[in-house]
Amino acid sequence: MRSPDVAVFAAGAWADAVAHRLADRLRARPDLRMCLPTGDTPGPVYRRLVGMAAAGGIPFERATVILLDEYVGLPPADPARCDTRLDRELISGLHPSPSVHRIRVDDLDPVAAAAEHGLVAAAGIDLAVVGLGMNGHVGFNEPGSGADAPTRVVSLTPGSRQVATARYGASAEPVSGITLGMDRLLASREIWLLVRGATKAAILKRALEGPQSAECPASWLRRHPRLTVLADEPAAASLG
Ligand code: PGA
Repeated sequence: MRSPDVAVFAAGAWADAVAHRLADRLRARPDLRMCLPTGDTPGPVYRRLVGMAAAGGIPFERATVILLDEYVGLPPADPARCDTRLDRELISGLHPSPSVHRIRVDDLDPVAAAAEHGLVAAAGIDLAVVGLGMNGHVGFNEPGSGADAPTRVVSLTPGSRQVATARYGASAEPVSGITLGMDRLLASREIWLLVRGATKAAILKRALEGPQSAECPASWLRRHPRLTVLADEPAAASLG
């Protein structure tokens, strides 16, 4: 496979295409260990998957989901919490559901929660599905993160804090988070970068065509031999 493999879909076809790819992966490998993101990008994909699973034929029950990242300091039911959101948008609609490794920010101190999640991920990730932040972050690997950045507690950039309240409805502005590290994502067997919408066109171009550097952590994904970019036409519009 050429890396990155960039697949572009009409905006109205993107979510179906991504959902069908994921369903195919699960049929081929029902014990798939996958890292899944939250945020606005994957919502339509999760809606399709719930619908497809309800109609039968997607074997989720033996799969393992490893949450990509989580806020520190938001209460358990906060609508912006990554675990709450993944439950709401995907997991609660799957019967039977996969096993899910959330990040235990309520039971453990953040450093211990990050260490525990790092151990879960160290058992291996077959497919890391990630989104692309407006500043080039992947999970909470914010600008400044090297390709070897580990799973850890991170300070969120002002932009990421504002997104939590303004777009995701957080009850308070979180200042830190826990993320799977770039090192762990790059050690996955395969990576899918999901990108949709015209607002992501410039950062996607930078991630794929700009220098590989910590200023745009998503650019490190190009080091992976099996990176697939799944973009809609508006997001891909600036690619050369
Ligand atoms: P979004 O966030 O899907 O809400 O645009 C992506 C990200 O910040 O990783």
